[in-house]
Amino acid sequence: MRNILIVGIGTGNPEHLTVQAINALNAAAVLFIPTKGEAKAQLAEIRRDIVSRHVTRRDNRVVEFEVPVRQIAGRSYSQSVDEWHAAIAATYERLLLEVLEEGETGAFLVWGDPMLYDSTIRIIERVRALETVQFDYSVIPGITSIQALAASHRIPLNLVGKPVEITTGRRLSESFPQKSETAVVMLDGEQAFMKIEDPDARIYWGAYLGTEQEIIISGRLADVKEDILKTRAAARAQHGWIMDIYLLQKGADFEE
Ligand SMILES: C[S@@+](CC[C@H](N)C(=O)[O-])C[C@H]1O[C@@H](n2cnc3c(N)ncnc32)[C@H](O)[C@@H]1O
Repeated sequence: MRNILIVGIGTGNPEHLTVQAINALNAAAVLFIPTKGEAKAQLAEIRRDIVSRHVTRRDNRVVEFEVPVRQIAGRSYSQSVDEWHAAIAATYERLLLEVLEEGETGAFLVWGDPMLYDSTIRIIERVRALETVQFDYSVIPGITSIQALAASHRIPLNLVGKPVEITTGRRLSESFPQKSETAVVMLDGEQAFMKIEDPDARIYWGAYLGTEQEIIISGRLADVKEDILKTRAAARAQHGWIMDIYLLQKGADFEE
């Protein structure tokens, strides 16, 4: 039977890898590296750097594959994601059949941790359900962008004894500040923080966390939001891509 390792590699800093992740990469005969077009070429470069720093075995094969692009025209969000996952599952199926020999181990290098806004596990399950290729798989955790954000700002994620909501830019208005006092916002292409009208809210924002281009800004939302907007736009124009995440918080420790 083939064996798959879904390995969390952290969010840009090659030192984010755990010892378990390094051992997993060294156990694999094949390392699968996704490429996502010119704009995000740096992300594939970071994965290559991780392999060259941490993988000591010399008999492995590194296989790069292009990730299909999500089509959105004329589809609802869930239709579009479902179709996209089916296309990626077909790519994985082909890779497993064509590149991985029976009895071999292959590793997928997953950004951050595979459990957080990542569908590798779902897609691997989808490939299994096709029943065209038999394999077993395990998941190796990694440092998430949430951990990288909190570490760079030197903050705990939650207020004492309080919950945290993790959401997307698209859904932020449903939760913060009326339902959640602490919200982590990921995948925000619309800068949803600009629409939060709350003079007491604080924001902890970070982009390219863990990489050499890392930028962080924090403060009262009303005071820093324009600065974040401008800094974000300039960085995106300069690098051709951006990944950013932020924590919004209202209230204080020991406040009921
Ligand atoms: C598809 S999700 C993947 C999350 C990843 N699995 C993790 O554990 O962080 C991509 C989102 O994660 C956040 N992200 C990932 N890496 C980041 C980084 N280095 N700096 C800032 N945000 C990052 C951004 O919100 C981005 O839109």
